[in-house]
Amino acid sequence: MFAGSSTVVSTLRAFAQDPPSGCPAPPSGGTHFVPGSDTRPIGLRKSINALGAAEVTKLQNAYAALRALPASDKRTWVLQADMHALFCDSCSTSPTDIHGSWNFFPWHRAYLYYYERILGSLVGDLNHFRLPYWDWENVRTLPASYRVPGSAANSLWNAKRNGGLAGGGNLPAADGTTARINTLNLLSDFDSFGGNASAGGAMENNPHGTIHMDVGQIAPPYHDMGNLGFAARDPLFFAHHGNIDKLWSAWNDLAGGSGLPPHAYQNPTDAGFLNARWSFYDENQQVVSMSAADVLDHNANLRYTYKTPIFRIPPLELIWICKLVCCLPDPDPGPFLEISEQVREAALHAVRQQATMLLVLHGVSVPPSASGVFEILAVRGERRTHLGSIGIVEHGETRHTKQHGLQTVVLDITQAAGELLAKEKPATLRVVRRPAEQKPGIAAEIFRPGQKLEYAFELKAERAEIRAQKR
Ligand code: C2O
Repeated sequence: MFAGSSTVVSTLRAFAQDPPSGCPAPPSGGTHFVPGSDTRPIGLRKSINALGAAEVTKLQNAYAALRALPASDKRTWVLQADMHALFCDSCSTSPTDIHGSWNFFPWHRAYLYYYERILGSLVGDLNHFRLPYWDWENVRTLPASYRVPGSAANSLWNAKRNGGLAGGGNLPAADGTTARINTLNLLSDFDSFGGNASAGGAMENNPHGTIHMDVGQIAPPYHDMGNLGFAARDPLFFAHHGNIDKLWSAWNDLAGGSGLPPHAYQNPTDAGFLNARWSFYDENQQVVSMSAADVLDHNANLRYTYKTPIFRIPPLELIWICKLVCCLPDPDPGPFLEISEQVREAALHAVRQQATMLLVLHGVSVPPSASGVFEILAVRGERRTHLGSIGIVEHGETRHTKQHGLQTVVLDITQAAGELLAKEKPATLRVVRRPAEQKPGIAAEIFRPGQKLEYAFELKAERAEIRAQKR
């Protein structure tokens, strides 16, 4: 696929990959987007690996043109990247963070919409050009066109990436998997999946955050993708967020299944969600603004679509409230789940039925200095069971000590439920930093009995729920 376009690419000039940092003044005000005003044909956003040679060339030419714009232009790729930094509180000029809340999905959708229009207009194809996505659940390596040739002659290449992936290696086996996506689709409430006014949803830390950290360089400050202040300087950012956007769209498509409550798989209807509005630059360098309400129907209003199959899975309907408390008085004290006797019995019954079971932790706080990928384990005596991962993306360069937003952590506890719910000495929930040297699979050594665990921070949650399938 790439071979067909290589002649075109090699004639392009080299690009400066690392422009000096700087936080521009955020755009504000501007013309309101009017739903229905975009009358272009509805275009299909495709997987990068499904692009034909001509489409790859067009994409590369679009990024090449973007990188070649003069610094005074409002569409330059650096300014566009810094727009992301502005909206994630990486710049002191704009104390706004669209991460860590329900703004996460709609803001990135609006941002990609204008970015896509800019790229399209630069190759004279505003009507048909659509951004591709990197569907990491299927394509486990960095897409070849973003990697090869690995030089500034390739406008999709970026120097600051994890060396293993940049060389064609696979993603860590636990990250961005179909299994994880299926787990998230068991959550039918937006709060757990996509966040609320004060906390990010489960999608944001895994897979969104884990993939960010995997693609960025291995050491702090994790340039580019592992650092919100710099992530959008890697063209992969837009392919990654295309996939996140696709998964949000696919989650919404699960609404309306038979037997589902009316609010299942629906976006929030709160005014605070719908009326949030942000300003961007459009393809004519004009300031424009878009609200969350404007982006919800991307087919009709933003004129792009995805072809995603709908797999209806019954969402988890049994919900038991429990509490994450600290700590068991033991040689190795750690937080554990506290539940009433009644709940324990009901939940253990579901365990015996082999029901899929999730632990949903709301309002999990992460210490300011903790960025990276963390593994959450159930630890009971010598037994360690991996429950899931969370990826906490670094803030900007200067703001790295600021507080991370509250997280919603969703863990598949099907295998460990018996131990977590045990009456005597239940398993404790522990957080360890993933060893930097990523082996295939999840760094196997942390599971080896006898291996000393170094806990990264204590897991604390405002609310905890166990959810299971009705049998
Ligand atoms: Cu605004 Cu993937 O981060």
